[in-house]
Amino acid sequence: MKMNEKVAIITGASSGLGKATAIAFAKEGANIVMAARRPEKLNEAADYVKSLGANVLALQTDISKADQVVQMVNLTLETFGRVDLLINNAAIDYPSPITELTTDQWDQIIGVNLSGMFYASKAVFPTMMKQNSGYIINISSVAGKKGWPNATAYCATKFAMAGFTQALNGEGKPYNIRCSIVYPGGMDTEWHTNPNPKRIDPEAVANFLVHMATQDPRFVVNEAVVSPINEGGYP
Ligand SMILES: NC(=O)c1ccc[n+]([C@@H]2O[C@H](COP(=O)([O-])OP(=O)(O)OC[C@H]3O[C@@H](n4cnc5c(N)ncnc54)[C@H](OP(=O)(O)O)[C@@H]3O)[C@@H](O)[C@H]2O)c1
Repeated sequence: MKMNEKVAIITGASSGLGKATAIAFAKEGANIVMAARRPEKLNEAADYVKSLGANVLALQTDISKADQVVQMVNLTLETFGRVDLLINNAAIDYPSPITELTTDQWDQIIGVNLSGMFYASKAVFPTMMKQNSGYIINISSVAGKKGWPNATAYCATKFAMAGFTQALNGEGKPYNIRCSIVYPGGMDTEWHTNPNPKRIDPEAVANFLVHMATQDPRFVVNEAVVSPINEGGYP
């Protein structure tokens, strides 16, 4: 059990990659904090992770609301006393041409994908500084490497995550806090309404996240593109 006694917060854990990641870290013995908005999906996912024997805290949280994110981290500390890993995974998109993308949709995409990452990272950082250890993994996308039509706001957030990650990695170094960015390619999740057999299972990406988080803490995988070999999304 490579993550015994460790505490991992995973945002967007009610489905897809977030849920798969909660399962993968639970199997390595971590205590898991699962955050998302939909209580039924969240509790169902949390019950499954508990059934694996993990200690689980399921917290209904809208990551785009700073006060809710602070509450999420406070409850984590009250329950488990520390935070070793934060995975900023929650994201949304409203695929549409720029002429149809509303300013409200733009604000929401920025609010969840970017501001949510900032609120959560800021909220855990003081604890990680005191611990003199910690790891933050930000989930971007191949849409953070290449711009796609009908995804201006989404791509803008996924590209921007790179600058945030690099800057924060530098800030964390004196405290042994590491910060990485992962760029998944197409994954078979609720994100897509149409099936495509070329997509990768979120479990495969989740297992890769475990691999990253269990390396020697004296080095960091700064960034990783994890895309299906037979999908055209990334060269
Ligand atoms: N699927 C793909 O092909 C693909 C490819 C590249 C990158 N990604 C990235 O992978 C990550 C996970 O996506 P996925 O494929 O697993 O899709 P998903 O199943 O739709 O998962 C998205 C998660 O984010 C949560 N979420 C959305 N808004 C939230 C908010 N305001 N506060 C808290 N949680 C929120 C959702 O839960 P609630 O609705 O319950 O809040 C859900 O659990 C995202 O960052 C996405 O950009 C996905």
